[in-house]
Amino acid sequence: MSECTRSLLQLRGMHRDDVVGLLARAREFAGFLRGLGGNAGGTPATSGSSGAETGPMVATMFFEDSTRTRLSFEIAARRLGVPALDIGPSSSTSKGESLIDTAKTIEAMGVAALIVRARPSGAAHLIARHVGVPVINAGDGKHEHPTQGLLDSLTFCEAIGRDGFDLQGVRVAIVGDVVSSRVARSAIAGFGILGAEVVCVGPVHLVPRSLEGLGCVVSHDLDSVLADVDGVMMLRVQRERHGGPSKAGSWGAAGSVGAYRAGYALTVERAAQMKDGAVVMHPGPMNRGVEIDSEVADGARSLITRQVSSGVAVRMAVIERALG
Ligand code: CP
Repeated sequence: MSECTRSLLQLRGMHRDDVVGLLARAREFAGFLRGLGGNAGGTPATSGSSGAETGPMVATMFFEDSTRTRLSFEIAARRLGVPALDIGPSSSTSKGESLIDTAKTIEAMGVAALIVRARPSGAAHLIARHVGVPVINAGDGKHEHPTQGLLDSLTFCEAIGRDGFDLQGVRVAIVGDVVSSRVARSAIAGFGILGAEVVCVGPVHLVPRSLEGLGCVVSHDLDSVLADVDGVMMLRVQRERHGGPSKAGSWGAAGSVGAYRAGYALTVERAAQMKDGAVVMHPGPMNRGVEIDSEVADGARSLITRQVSSGVAVRMAVIERALG
């Protein structure tokens, strides 16, 4: 079975018009959500509550931890008036059922789309090849996290005033554990499709030169890059993905959090080197005092909370597209 064209599995290779279409629709939803303010009882954006029993439903299949992505997909679906049914790790996969069989079982119950987070890279692609409904990748291993890439792009474009989603002449740094990061791969793709130059920065074992194959520039010297970028995205060091009996080396050549911070943390002093108007992003989860200082995370340049808010709007646009 071929993948449904309304699936969203990765940003890499997507046509610019498709990306801009989703971002433009997400911006409309963001306006709608801002209009609701704190009104949790606001009117759904599309079908009324009377459609809830007969209209489409989506299923969220999260086989890895998530706070932001899982909840924002659920909120996005509800805002669209679409019930979201949650299938957690306590599903049949814990009894030995394959991911594909679980997905086909849920599809057979009549859901209209599957939203999947799973540990193996390529899991969403694999499921999409075996079901007829659209599959939305909510993060697969070290591969991609396309809705995160879209929400990063939307937030960044709005913050620096690129209303047409054109990032020509703009430079973005992605700093930290890029090699383990699906967020980074989607950000490289998303920012790149919109025209930005992306430079990935970190120690050699977290940012190997081979990453340039993704279409970014690689640097191991944050201080030489920072003053010349319009935005910086800080990443957590995902030590749980590094494997091996000892994770001590995960921090860098010197093997300590102190050495990692000395080279690659966005400290207050480093943030002061950034040019006027340059912004700070972080996809979360964030380790304050490790890759980023609290004063920077909560400071005037920070878009971190706005990224989370944009996530709901982006996921509304992606679910709407999936449901046709
Ligand atoms: N950014 C992100 O994917 O966060 P969660 O793991 O909390 O979903």
